[in-house]
Amino acid sequence: MIVSAYVFADGVEFAPEAIGAAAQALRAGKLIGLPTETVYGLGADADNATAVAAIFEAKGRPSDHPLIVHVAAFDGGMSGVAHYAGRVPSFAQQLMSAFWPGPLTLILPRRDGVGAIAAGGQNTIGLRCPAHPVAQAVLTALRQPTEGEPVVWGVAAPSANRFGRVSPTTAQHVASEFADTPDLLILDGGPCEVGIESTIIDCTRGAPVLLRPGAITSEQVAAACGRALISPEELEAQGQSAPRASGTLESHYAPNATVRLMDAKALQQALDLLGTDVDKSAGPGKTIAIYSRVPLKTSARQIELRRMPTDAAVAAHELFSVLRELDALRVKLIWVETPPDTVAWDGVRDRLTRAATPTR
Ligand code: TXA
Ligand code: MG
Repeated sequence: MIVSAYVFADGVEFAPEAIGAAAQALRAGKLIGLPTETVYGLGADADNATAVAAIFEAKGRPSDHPLIVHVAAFDGGMSGVAHYAGRVPSFAQQLMSAFWPGPLTLILPRRDGVGAIAAGGQNTIGLRCPAHPVAQAVLTALRQPTEGEPVVWGVAAPSANRFGRVSPTTAQHVASEFADTPDLLILDGGPCEVGIESTIIDCTRGAPVLLRPGAITSEQVAAACGRALISPEELEAQGQSAPRASGTLESHYAPNATVRLMDAKALQQALDLLGTDVDKSAGPGKTIAIYSRVPLKTSARQIELRRMPTDAAVAAHELFSVLRELDALRVKLIWVETPPDTVAWDGVRDRLTRAATPTR
């Protein structure tokens, strides 16, 4: 059930009943669909073990894959961090001051006895203070003491998609992922501005380790804390095992169609080779979709051409929506122009590379 988080009467305002209903559902141990600036999350009270277990169940996600816990921003996220995390290294403090609220998740040492199920049993915890005003309205409401109800310190929320599938960037995407759970309350906060999941930095290894690239680039992270980043590969080379992270599985973010990455020249050559007839036995529908930054030509009706924005942030904003739209054409193949090999494109390139990796 999609509920608008805004009222559009005289200007835009929060719909207080919608925010209240979401907070009430979370206090009661239920799941909700929650808008954030990156992607929509499937949220539950992070300190309610039963509710958190229901997230794993609904997503079909293995219970040892840790979830991100979202905290309120009124004090810069500090009280939420103090509730869930133990010692916070100074470089992590600097990253919080620089980027919170925002699309950055920090992995910190977990305080004993809190958030164990959300953390997938690890002794660390992923914390994020999201910037989306609707997410913040809910998180702040949950921190207000309500008679007879416990304070909720944080909301555990993975992306609101089935395990391994494309993350949702609209409330409608969430509804289609969980169509068999029609009573799931989904707060509609509009399309997500960033469009890909948060940058994840592991702060438990003595130096910042980039676990997942996102809108906040590795260069920005390094500049904000004055420390060079270590890659998970370098960690392993030092004999330290990299932490388990489902967003870092090789195959992830997969649409139904087979995704392939190619450079612009290879794409145009493939189109020229195909000529007008892609598959004579196929019906009138589209069989291949192309998503490229450069303009390409084809004379085949069965090929859908779509242009990728040339700005990395704009491309990230629409990426998952476009993958869903192309998938909805029921094409068998989605051929994508390989994004530029620059830091600004790291997040988009990472998601596309995973989408192009076979599941098996
Ligand atoms: O932008 C986002 O981060 C979105 C929105 C909803 O906030 N959330 C999201 O959650 O992408 P999810 O569960 O789809 O991805 C969480 C990632 C996973 O790769 C997970 O393994 C990693 O964070 N993670 C969480 N806690 C961790 C921990 N303690 N140690 C290592 N990785 C962790
Ligand atoms: Mg996810």
